[in-house]
Amino acid sequence: MESSQPERPINLMRGWPAASVLPTDLLTKASATVLSDSSVSTPALEYGPDAGYLPLRKSMSKWLSRHFNVEEDINRICITGGASQSIANILISYADSLVTKGFWVVAPCYHLVCPIFEDAGFAGRLRGVREDEHGIDPVELEAEIQRLERSERNAPDQPPSKDVPGRKLYRHIIYVVSTSSNPSGKTLPLERRTALVNLARKYDALLISDDVYDFLQWPLSRSSPLDWTPEMRLPRLADIDRELGVEGFGNAVSNGSFSKIAAPGMRTGWIEASPAFSKGMSMQGSTKSGGAPSQFSAAVLSVMVQDGSLEKHVNEVIRPQLRDRHLSLITAIQQYIPQARISASSYAGADVFGGFFVWFTVNIGLSTQLVAQAALKEGNLVIGSGGIFAVSGDKSGPRFDDKIRLCFAWEPVDSLIEGVKRLANLLDRMERNKELYQKTYTQSMGQDWVTANK
Ligand SMILES: Cc1ncc(COP(=O)(O)O)c(C=O)c1O
Repeated sequence: MESSQPERPINLMRGWPAASVLPTDLLTKASATVLSDSSVSTPALEYGPDAGYLPLRKSMSKWLSRHFNVEEDINRICITGGASQSIANILISYADSLVTKGFWVVAPCYHLVCPIFEDAGFAGRLRGVREDEHGIDPVELEAEIQRLERSERNAPDQPPSKDVPGRKLYRHIIYVVSTSSNPSGKTLPLERRTALVNLARKYDALLISDDVYDFLQWPLSRSSPLDWTPEMRLPRLADIDRELGVEGFGNAVSNGSFSKIAAPGMRTGWIEASPAFSKGMSMQGSTKSGGAPSQFSAAVLSVMVQDGSLEKHVNEVIRPQLRDRHLSLITAIQQYIPQARISASSYAGADVFGGFFVWFTVNIGLSTQLVAQAALKEGNLVIGSGGIFAVSGDKSGPRFDDKIRLCFAWEPVDSLIEGVKRLANLLDRMERNKELYQKTYTQSMGQDWVTANK
């Protein structure tokens, strides 16, 4: 074991955008634009309309329609307080502890989504559905749903525990990150997307897709231009649902966010779904009382979306930096941890990647939970151990004790490389001294640590 710790802390767990990609100048200018004209500042500073700041709904509808090649329709878009708060609100309006029977979550999952479900009253009811090389498998999911439906066959229908006028309570909720998933980085191919939507339609399920990384993808080669190739612009689940024809609420909602393409502190996002679904989102009690979430932030962002400066920032600042960091990180992993099993691409069969994270397997015969503790203690290094990304409360669900998640969005390239070297040395020491490490580190890091490091 190593008794002295390197001085410089390195955090490869934190899933935040680096300061170098925050559009501070654009936000300064856009805020001044909003505040210098009372015809803009007054509505921006008052309570917002229930569906959210109209110019942002319009400009997002334009951008999304151009990017995903879908028809513009602002009635499908509602402004939210970011993806996390939006999930909580979706669950308030569209899920119920008595009516909703199945809560299916891609496994591994974005670890902080579980507490949102738990707070909504669904603790202990989440079931993980394992990803294979292409992401979540609709065939496996259907088998699980059928199993649950069989066990429910003779159970009497129960009245809902709440009344949600203008909305509906689905029988199943399915949570996925269709593109560049957190933590696995995987992107679902088109056939699986279509199969998932058909499945949702068949079983009265709502697909919630956190589409927070769709705008953050790049080709794997450093020399390729950052043009958007077809594999990087796959239709969202909500687009497929729409294409198949929606009457009423539909079965898929795209949960978007400005956190990774602008700044998490703006606390603004959007959902796109059927007009009925979107309207339902704006009918929540908290919105009726407080107006749409994030009204001022939405007004500022709308300036940057309308004049194209945010899209330019994404394409000219964020994507190049993420590609550079990602390639540096995987090169370092391949060089210093040759035993790591890592998938270079997000999308099996294409040379693209996206999101903030790499996810890989190390087989040293010890849980990566111990590796994470030892990394902190001996290496002044924070990493994400796989176990954190198991679906919470699903005791017989998939476990990931041989996995590690590293974020390449937060630390600069030199720290990414230095962090991998520290990890490689540690893995080597641990493999040679298994018993000692097993005895020394047994506790988990605890929930506060996990939340603080996102
Ligand atoms: C899949 C996923 N969903 C949601 C979030 C949080 O989004 P927001 O900041 O919009 O609440 C994150 C952030 O890491 C994420 O990775």
